[in-house]
Amino acid sequence: MCGIIGYTGREQALPLILGGLERLEYRGYDSAGVAILEKDKLIVEKKAGKIRELVKDLWGKPYKGKAGIGHTRWATHGEPSEDNAHPHTDEKGEIAVVHNGIVENFVELKRRLETHGIKFKSDTDTEVIAHLIALNYKGDLLSAVLSAVKELKGAFAFAVISSKEPMRIIGVKLGSPLVVGIGKEENFLASDIPAILPYTRHIITLSDGEIADITPEGVNLYDFNGNPITKEISLVPWDIISAEKAGFKHFMLKEIYEQPKSVGDTIRGLVSSEEILPFHLKDFRRVLIIACGTSYHAGLVGKFWIEKYTSVPTEVIYASEFRYSDIPVGEKDLIIAISQSGETIDTKFAVNFARDKGAKTLAIVNVVGSSIDRESDFTLHTHAGPEIGVAATKTFTAQLAALYFLAIQNTPREDKLLQDLIGTPSLMEKVLEKAEDIENISEKYLKKRNFLYLGRYLSYPIALEGALKLKEISYIHAEGYPAGEMKHGPIALIDEAMPVVIIAPKDRVYEKTLSNLAEVKTRKGKVIGVGFSEDNHLKDLCESYLEIPAVVEDLSPFLTVIPLQLLAYYIASKLGLDVDQPRNLAKTVTVE
Ligand code: G6P
Repeated sequence: MCGIIGYTGREQALPLILGGLERLEYRGYDSAGVAILEKDKLIVEKKAGKIRELVKDLWGKPYKGKAGIGHTRWATHGEPSEDNAHPHTDEKGEIAVVHNGIVENFVELKRRLETHGIKFKSDTDTEVIAHLIALNYKGDLLSAVLSAVKELKGAFAFAVISSKEPMRIIGVKLGSPLVVGIGKEENFLASDIPAILPYTRHIITLSDGEIADITPEGVNLYDFNGNPITKEISLVPWDIISAEKAGFKHFMLKEIYEQPKSVGDTIRGLVSSEEILPFHLKDFRRVLIIACGTSYHAGLVGKFWIEKYTSVPTEVIYASEFRYSDIPVGEKDLIIAISQSGETIDTKFAVNFARDKGAKTLAIVNVVGSSIDRESDFTLHTHAGPEIGVAATKTFTAQLAALYFLAIQNTPREDKLLQDLIGTPSLMEKVLEKAEDIENISEKYLKKRNFLYLGRYLSYPIALEGALKLKEISYIHAEGYPAGEMKHGPIALIDEAMPVVIIAPKDRVYEKTLSNLAEVKTRKGKVIGVGFSEDNHLKDLCESYLEIPAVVEDLSPFLTVIPLQLLAYYIASKLGLDVDQPRNLAKTVTVE
């Protein structure tokens, strides 16, 4: 979490840094700040709240400096306030630091620094970095950073600038992401590629334990011992247009609409020869899927497909639970790590942990070159393009495509199943044609404070995902539950005030789901059904009905999730909430 950016070059740094921060805002948005080198002095400006608050504050201020660093924060240590906003500086204000991640031994370091008489101005872990660098500074910023880094424990990325060496910025990566952008007489550092995409597509992705020393004239890379290293520069294929809203009110809505394309692109990418894996799932004793959030829900769907087509026992585990469990893992296990960002630290640590135990690791990621992509033995890439809305939508259905593709490999009916998958995007288009109906339906539920989402078999993870979407962006409490399990508890909640979303495509559990629906209706619950367009029987049982076209059982999750994404979107949007940047959340979570 948190986004960092650095610029050194021939342009005025401030507008460029603010633009980059806006594109990084999905990583956190409770405060923001910049440090600009202005006539050999460091000017630090920061503000609690979103970047637009900082931008307003900076209007009319004539900063023309050509080097600087910036930060957008998702608070870990220290409440979201101006004092705790980054950049943090040393006592003389000559060294400024922006930081993403956590310095785990900061309490110990802080105590030691205080014995040197240093007075801390914030409650953050970051401030120790600035003071440590200042303490080690003897005329060369790189040497001071190298000495400081040796004392830091945790997972982090940070960028440092000093008024004593104008135009030089040093970036350090250990755990959290950091990329270097190469321009003409200008160079960049950023947490993520989209921040600097308008200026350059030439990128070096730093690995853990690497340092970049950038000036307008060039980029030098080092390991943590100060040994020079060389790395390849890659050309990023995304163009900036795909990161704009293209006429949609919110990125989330645009991304919901992009799903037929992103699923289609993902399938095309997967069938191309480069993505062929040198093993089959049946080579393993067990598959363990590890993921967080929406990616975890994709994993739950994937489990059903993998077990159906390979009979290999498959478990799905939250990455944050896996890493510190005693679950036996070994050579005979395949770990599938699912992550749209490829940077979620719990998932990344789980991959490292499993690899150390001898398991094979396969990543399903959307961001090429991300940490989980690089640190796994194999990768299947989803081709959803950049996802800006904090609530994941198009990356979810792209993950489903990758999981289905994986599950059906080498099955006797592989060709037929693949053809079904290839036909899915056009069915998804048909669901999107009903968006206006869903918008109208959403009006009825704006004042509700609780929702229940029910589904069985493949629709159970979709119930979880539908409930997650609603709570993330509308702040309405919603609970996803296996429909058959409702009678063991949640049924007690049902009365005339409780909307119950029931997902009931015509599949092997259709009749059973309808029995659960009857149990809800008997208790006066208001049913919002998700089912096939021509299923008039189901439609008649529901207060509101979200239609999808008929689809083969396996592939219903690609369709049933879309009306639920739209329902959550329209409710949140009509409530006037910040759909793309819901409170307290962040797109990429790089803290444990
Ligand atoms: C955050 C995001 C979610 C996402 C989860 C896992 O919580 O807000 O949308 O599902 O992280 O992210 P990943 O990048 O690993 O898929």
